Amino acid sequence: MAKDYSQHFKKPSIKKARKRVKDNTKTIDFSTCANIEGFGDGKTYKIQTYGCQGNEADGEKIKGILESLKFTEADTLEDADLILLNTCAIRENAENRVFGELGRLKQYKRNNPELILGVCGCMAQEENVVERILNKFQYVDLVFGTHNIYKLPQYLENVLFQKERVIEVFSEEGAIVENIPKLRDNAKKAWVNIMYGCDEFCTYCIVPYTRGKERSREPKHIISEIKDLIKEGYQEVTLLGQNVNSYGRDFTDKTYRFAQLLSDLNKLDIPRIRFTTSHPKDFDSETIDVLARGGNLMPYIHLPVQSGSTEVLKRMNRKYTRESYIALVDEIKEKIPSVSLTTDIIVGFPGETEAQFQETLSLVETCQFEGAFTFVFSKRSGTPAANYEDKTPLKEKKDRLHRLNNIINDGYLRGTKRFEGKTVKVLVDGHSKNDKNILAGYTEHNKLVNFKGDSSQIGEIVNVKITEAKTWFMLGEQQ
Ligand code: 5AD
Ligand code: SF4
Repeated sequence: MAKDYSQHFKKPSIKKARKRVKDNTKTIDFSTCANIEGFGDGKTYKIQTYGCQGNEADGEKIKGILESLKFTEADTLEDADLILLNTCAIRENAENRVFGELGRLKQYKRNNPELILGVCGCMAQEENVVERILNKFQYVDLVFGTHNIYKLPQYLENVLFQKERVIEVFSEEGAIVENIPKLRDNAKKAWVNIMYGCDEFCTYCIVPYTRGKERSREPKHIISEIKDLIKEGYQEVTLLGQNVNSYGRDFTDKTYRFAQLLSDLNKLDIPRIRFTTSHPKDFDSETIDVLARGGNLMPYIHLPVQSGSTEVLKRMNRKYTRESYIALVDEIKEKIPSVSLTTDIIVGFPGETEAQFQETLSLVETCQFEGAFTFVFSKRSGTPAANYEDKTPLKEKKDRLHRLNNIINDGYLRGTKRFEGKTVKVLVDGHSKNDKNILAGYTEHNKLVNFKGDSSQIGEIVNVKITEAKTWFMLGEQQ
């Protein structure tokens, strides 16, 4: 591979990524900007996706583009002509995994100099990461970010035929690109982006810099994508956004918000609608009222709290208090009595005292979460909290995480126990790894269930009576 860079050479800039301009979001149609030719014919690819559902959805678009260029998926990394790492920047350990993998992939490059190695996703949007790639991982051929997936055909043409390296990352406001082809990983459950980016700037979080300003998709585009999924036999859709509750806030021509979107989707003939992720400060009563109608709107809400201390929440820039969060949970439980609530919590945020951590533990007890993703604070370069004074030793932070997880695990068990003896609806995902006669799937409340059944039922929704509740899953008998 030649060492020259192509005309596409643009590094990310944290300064530009911080900016938010008021301009309306542009919508681009993929079919008008990509020259899809089958130049991938006979070539194979492999994508490794790290991180959140947003990244998984991006991975499906990247695969869709590659397949329309006639690339086919390789069985193993060793066989691939193109390897893309679709990366996550949320915490340091996610980044370390990717750098470790890049180091490991060097040998593949040595064995096959024609191999094209690319890095995309959130890490590609970080100034310090791209510098590190340029200095230490010079064998990487292609770097592109979260805003320019749609330009992948052009980049590949450059790398493959001009034998140039492409490094192109946009830090300016992103557009919305409609009609990118997708190769979905699951035939029954689909991700549907309803918005991109984030304008919250929680002080610990890198996402507003890696994903750009908040931009909502037009309702008609979302609804038509879901109608197509229904025709294809999809059973479940998960609406994606960093803060779905602020959906539509950027529209200048209409007052269509998340509650209206849910209300419109509630009328569609698809059994299950889910969404993630919610922000407590924007979760309004109207949305709760629509969710309370039930039907295809699932009684499961992931509602990240991050901390139970108002003082810590303030320094996190979360814009709600312990009391307002609890009031929101009370309203949700009053209107949707069977709801299952889960959350995200960060321990050891800079300056968090033992007393403030205790407030998190007591909030967990008050809200009776049925699960949580829990994390030790990770310093992200370029975010405000990276410069906050942080005197708590890592050992103490890990101890807090351990104490928190013990209480969270009780919540998981409480959340499954309440279904013992009840009959629930399960969307069958597949069979258990160890036994072909055991099926596995998720209930409406998002609980994993194992039960005896036939492979022909994969993709269907079946009734299962819960016979035994464990912490992480339930056992049942088909009715
Ligand atoms: N350190 C630890 N956890 C973080 N999260 C986001 N940024 C950080 C960070 N710097 C967690 C939050 C968020 C979830 C997706 O990741 O809890 O809700
Ligand atoms: Fe990060 Fe906060 Fe935006 Fe979530 S809402 S992506 S935690 S900045």
